[in-house]
Amino acid sequence: MTKIDDLPVRDELRGQSPYGAPQLDVPVQLNTNENPYPLPEPLVARIAERVADAARQLNRYPDRDAVELRAGLAAYLTDTTGHTVTKDQVWAANGSNEVLQQLLQTFGGPGRTAIGFEPSYSMHALIARGTGTGWISGPRNEDFTVDLDAAREAIAELRPHVVFICSPNNPTGTAVEADTVLALYEAAQAARPSLVVVDEAYVEFSHRDSLLPLLEGRPNLVVSRTMSKAFGAAGLRLGYLAADPAVVDAVQLVRLPYHLSAVTQATALACLEHTDTLLGYVEQLKSERDRLVVALRELGLDVTDSDANFIQFGRFADTHAVWQSILDRGVLVRDNGVPGWLRVTAGTPAENDAFLAAVSAAIKEL
Ligand SMILES: Cc1ncc(COP(=O)(O)O)c(C=O)c1O
Repeated sequence: MTKIDDLPVRDELRGQSPYGAPQLDVPVQLNTNENPYPLPEPLVARIAERVADAARQLNRYPDRDAVELRAGLAAYLTDTTGHTVTKDQVWAANGSNEVLQQLLQTFGGPGRTAIGFEPSYSMHALIARGTGTGWISGPRNEDFTVDLDAAREAIAELRPHVVFICSPNNPTGTAVEADTVLALYEAAQAARPSLVVVDEAYVEFSHRDSLLPLLEGRPNLVVSRTMSKAFGAAGLRLGYLAADPAVVDAVQLVRLPYHLSAVTQATALACLEHTDTLLGYVEQLKSERDRLVVALRELGLDVTDSDANFIQFGRFADTHAVWQSILDRGVLVRDNGVPGWLRVTAGTPAENDAFLAAVSAAIKEL
């Protein structure tokens, strides 16, 4: 049988594995930071209506510039952050992964490097690899906050072209202070200047404000967002960024024409009409997340403060054994490869109760 490495693939892809969490069919799946609440029925009906309209014109290519959708996303950002964002500052693609890929195609690439502070969202490094961008793994403190002095030193010395700051950070759940982002931005501008990307995939779940207002006067700063988490629409594949309009113009150089289907645009627009209901679910998830943090600490576990819809908990001598023992009780959590730690996504109250019972039994057993 022919294997990947028998093919004339790029050298840097040889021997690598694709990204992917195990998709196991168990009763309680709390491993991919999805929103546990299905879209409300009135929204489902509105999606059907909007998609039907779009379907009548599927013989035509979609709006290549997704103007109506970008205006809707800009209004959402303005309403929720109090910072005015216009549609020419917003760009959308198929998931924030594609947004990040377009940014690296534009600002990274062969002969260029990007830095992230790990452990962090592993796709940052994988998208770097896929776009031929060299990857630099920057440091974090013991408590998983960004080690500012070490980060500044790494930026000054290695002069990366792109700096990733994930806030709240996946898989640790930690948010980054605005002052830290500003200091890293200054360091990155002094070093090169480079593009600084703040990945705010989980920001709606945070106890803190969005870092979006920092965009003002900083043309090399980008904030990326997604509808996969707070909007509960991971299956939609809709991510977006806010930045200086010049950044939006720049990614046009690499985006595929008509990359965002008319069906996707119609669905995302329907979701934006139901923002209030969806953000209501976010409030429930935030309080469930806080409940889980307290309950896990009461079980005697270490828990990293979380500003996301997931929680990092530990520490375990044999992380895999604990993961397996929780799984044996019908609950799937994530082992992100951070030694001693596991990650659980906040689910519905019933799912969270099942998780707490499973962890409690697992740590007694082991
Ligand atoms: C930090 C972070 N950024 C981006 C994404 C990608 O989200 P999507 O491509 O679904 O928008 C994820 C998904 O889990 C994530 O954890």
